[in-house]
Amino acid sequence: MSLKSDLEQLKEKGLAQIKTVDSTKVLNDIRVSLLGKKGPITNVLRGMKDLSAEERPQVGSFANEVRDSLTAAIETKKQELQTQLLNEQLSAETIDVTLPGRPVEIGTSHVLTQVQNDIEELFIGMGYQVVDGPEVEEDHYNFEMMNMPKDHPARDMQDTFYITNEVLMRTHTSPVQARTLEKHDFNQGPLKMISPGRVYRRDTDDATHSHQFHQIEGLVVDKHITMADLKGTLEVLAKHVFGADRKIRLRPSYFPFTEPSVEVDVSCFKCGGKGCAVCKYTGWIEVLGAGMVHPNVIENAGIDSKIYGGFAFGLGPDRFAMLKYGIDDIREFYLNDIRFLHQFKVED
Ligand code: PHE
Repeated sequence: MSLKSDLEQLKEKGLAQIKTVDSTKVLNDIRVSLLGKKGPITNVLRGMKDLSAEERPQVGSFANEVRDSLTAAIETKKQELQTQLLNEQLSAETIDVTLPGRPVEIGTSHVLTQVQNDIEELFIGMGYQVVDGPEVEEDHYNFEMMNMPKDHPARDMQDTFYITNEVLMRTHTSPVQARTLEKHDFNQGPLKMISPGRVYRRDTDDATHSHQFHQIEGLVVDKHITMADLKGTLEVLAKHVFGADRKIRLRPSYFPFTEPSVEVDVSCFKCGGKGCAVCKYTGWIEVLGAGMVHPNVIENAGIDSKIYGGFAFGLGPDRFAMLKYGIDDIREFYLNDIRFLHQFKVED
């Protein structure tokens, strides 16, 4: 038999084999056995050296042709098998795209965040800046700058978590007053700020106490600020949070950093002032502490208290939220119980 007819046969047989293959693995085996280094075609090409000079190019080009057509057939088959495999997979793993999806739970901002944002927006609208301050604070800013030197008895009003003798968890947001006052340049205009944030006290947690809660501090310092400015501002705040018909009243109180100091009551939003369980039949609910900034606090910040003065107030968003929504346990805010949190769902 001539080499040419060997090749002819090889081609016929090979093509027939390739046609019937039904797995890529077998197809690969066939490729190796036909076209590989030890395969018949390589063999034929190796035997060419024994051919005559006339025969060699003919056989050579025919061998190439056979190799090309086998290679092409294998490639075609490979594509065919892959498509088949893909189709099988696709029909085995069909997805019903018309099936309704599973609902994704979307969270909501925390009720305290909502109260805080609402108050921030109110004050930003009145030209106040919102100032942040450190929660790990120096004794210097938390107490001393606020007119409570080391042995001041008023420190007892705020049980404190001390980290070192001089460093503590801030017990109120008032130190942010001191920090901001100290830096303020009155040539640029009056200082009007609020400072929201977490505060810490060494209290035992119960329905009305938490070792960590929130305050929003307010401070205005300029020339000629009077108590009427304070009262007007707090009235706007009370009406905004508790309803347009609310009235406020100021009662004398004591804070070391304000003089005079007041406790602020709002007329009961439940009974309108007639007396009910919410206001303990007094018609009034205590909502915050405030006062005219003590001259010592102004002087401590390096400002002349004969020229400049102002008012300050400190409110608790926790208390505001409890009153507004009738929440009777402050711990609810910090338990992250989704059943509680979802009652205050808003479109953010
Ligand atoms: N910092 C005070 C407190 O935590 C609240 C307050 C602030 C009172 C500003 C008056 C003026 O008790």
